[in-house]
Order: sequence, then structure tokens, then C-alpha cells
Amino acid sequence: MASKNKLERFAEMESFKNIFQPAIDSVKEADFELKGKWAEHFGNNHPIVLELGCGKGEYTIGLAKRYPEKNFIGMDIKGARIWKGAKQGEQEGITNACFIRTKIDFITQFFHKNEVSEIWCTFSDPQPKKPNKRLTSKVFVERYKQFLKKDGIIHLKTDSDLLMASTEEEISSNKYQELFKTWDLYGEGVYALNDEIRDILEIRTFYEDIWLKEGKTIKYIKFQVATVS
Ligand SMILES: C[S@@+](CC[C@H](N)C(=O)[O-])C[C@H]1O[C@@H](n2cnc3c(N)ncnc32)[C@H](O)[C@@H]1O
Repeated sequence: MASKNKLERFAEMESFKNIFQPAIDSVKEADFELKGKWAEHFGNNHPIVLELGCGKGEYTIGLAKRYPEKNFIGMDIKGARIWKGAKQGEQEGITNACFIRTKIDFITQFFHKNEVSEIWCTFSDPQPKKPNKRLTSKVFVERYKQFLKKDGIIHLKTDSDLLMASTEEEISSNKYQELFKTWDLYGEGVYALNDEIRDILEIRTFYEDIWLKEGKTIKYIKFQVATVS
């Protein structure tokens, strides 16, 4: 069967209960209606984990299946990509994952202080000409600090030397705490990991598969930042 085109996907998403698509103008000006109320939405107080630039949502769905005791929210501006993860979530009845179609630039409108436990940045755009648009830049981390819990963790999985190196620089210059890193996850790096994190890192995203086929090495770094008190 031919794959659905964008318009068909957009129409189908209107019927999904696991995706929020607020108008950009509304989130520029006001808080999203579930800010501070995600526990109510999920019906529990489980930790909330975000996947930023989730694309088709492999991490959001993959982690939700592995960790039923946590809640997952994938965010991306591209609706045709999010459709894939949202559809899988609907079909499989996954209740601890949902998606928000929005610009991550407005992320502080979506989450209240201390509402989020972890953030995953999966194959984020390296933005070679616009460093402040990188999802691990100080500009973005300052936003995350407003809603991350005290011991909250940020993960970056990337093929990009540029993004990995710039993230290392941000960690060093802003005195964040690096917890683990490898420049070659599927080479030596993976052996330094415990079984649990190895299992997580073996979730492959759409872009990851492309880069692996091209022979690129995959990098991973995880760190903590001091949150706003
Ligand atoms: C290279 S793709 C990676 C997608 C997916 N994580 C994967 O690994 O297959 C980067 C994704 O980030 C999204 N993205 C980048 N910057 C964004 C922003 N500021 N707001 C929302 N989405 C963004 C893009 O739409 C795109 O889907």
C-alpha cells in the first residue's frame, strides 16, 4: 500500500488523542493549557521525559515501552514525521507517551518549574551557521533550566562532530556536570556502559540508521545543569 501523503497524515492526526498541535501564535503569547498539569493529563505523578526534535518519535515510543513507570513527550515542528510515532502510540495503546507539534524555541510555555526529569536530544540539527539554534546551546539550556528538576539529565545522541564538540564546550564553559560521554558509541563506548543504558542507546532513530549506513560514528553525552532556584 502506498504510504500516506502529508495531507492525509495531517488529517488523520486530527483524530489522534496523543498529539497536541497548538497554534504557534498562541504559544508565543501564552502558556500552553497543560503547563503544570501534565501529571493530570497522564493520570499519575511519574517522572516526565522529553525527546526534543523527536522526528518519528523512536525514542519517545521506545522508552515509553521500556519504562511504563515514566511518561514521555516527543516534540517536533514537523507534523508528517510525528505522525509515525503518534500512530504507533495510538495503535499499540501506549498511554505513557504523547507528542507536541511546536517549535522547541517556545518550550518554556509548556512546562512548569520542576515538571521535567530528563531531556533527550536525538540527532538534533547541528546548525553550523546558527550556534544559538542548537538544542544544547546555552540559549536552549537556559530555557530547560526553568523546568528541569534539580538532578535532571540532558542526553545528546548525535552523528555530528560539530554538535558534539560544541556541547562539550558548553558543558565546560558553563560548568555543567558531565556524567558520561563517548565519541564512538557502537565502538568502544558501549562497553563502558551498564546494561540498562546500553539497552536504551540501542534504540535506533530514522536519522541514526541513515548515518550508520554512511559509516558515521555515533556520539553520546549526558550531563546535568544547575536549575533555577
Ligand atoms: C535531523 S532530525 C532528527 C529526527 C529524529 N530525532 C531522528 O533521529 O530521526 C531533527 C529534527 O528536529 C526538528 N527540529 C529542529 N529544530 C527544531 C525546533 N527548533 N523546533 C522543533 N523541531 C525542531 C526537525 O523538524 C527534525 O525533525
